[in-house]
Amino acid sequence: MRKKIVAGNWKMNKNLQEGIELVKEIKALCDADKPNCGVIVCTPFIHLASVTPLVNQDIIGIGAENCADKESGAYTGEVSASMVASTGARYCILGHSERRAYYHETAEILKEKVQLALANNLIPIFCIGEVKEERLANQQNQVVKAQLEGSLFNLSAEDFGKIILAYEPVWAIGTGLTATPEQAEDIHAFIRSLVADKYGKQVADDCTILYGGSCKPSNAKELFAKPDVDGGLIGGASLKAADFKGIIDAWK
Ligand code: 13P
Repeated sequence: MRKKIVAGNWKMNKNLQEGIELVKEIKALCDADKPNCGVIVCTPFIHLASVTPLVNQDIIGIGAENCADKESGAYTGEVSASMVASTGARYCILGHSERRAYYHETAEILKEKVQLALANNLIPIFCIGEVKEERLANQQNQVVKAQLEGSLFNLSAEDFGKIILAYEPVWAIGTGLTATPEQAEDIHAFIRSLVADKYGKQVADDCTILYGGSCKPSNAKELFAKPDVDGGLIGGASLKAADFKGIIDAWK
């Protein structure tokens, strides 16, 4: 059975003290009222070592938002997958549209990052999704197909089975324009069919596919009600413990 998950992506928000506070608040809410799904909090690198000791990661997993495409060496300012793992973090978001757009991360670079994350026992949360022009031209299916083929479909079935996918239509990120539950379901089902064609029905059935893009407590329940939507990757609404918990509670 595939896992239901609500994951937060803080992006470039919260200083160290604010981040520690937010993790403590999320933990307190989850201690008081046990989640019915997996919960993951992905933070900037600088928070990781301070927040992993604060939580039981079987309940609230901690992840990074990126890692380097190189193992180690003279890459000033980069943070390797092995460094992320050494903080105790278990997850790593890769392929977020903001990294693709602003930092020019190509399918080839992301393929390297995925392999390094897996080699260091980090679970990649791999993001795919089309921009507005592609949606208007009805090209969303071919875009996500190329993204999967370009960075993930080189993996063995065993390694692919470790990946969490996140469908994030770029036009829905931070815009308040959520995909309708029907739009999300259509493309999630298509993504699952691509996984089935490549790796077989069992791997596809077990693959967690999250939806991301202006997901909030008021719309999470109807999105998560769709059979191929296995939870959410949450940006803005993950920055307030009560909102994040409101989305977690959509699984109740
Ligand atoms: P918002 O929830 O702020 O739209 O961001 C979604 C996202 O990019 C999560 O990775």
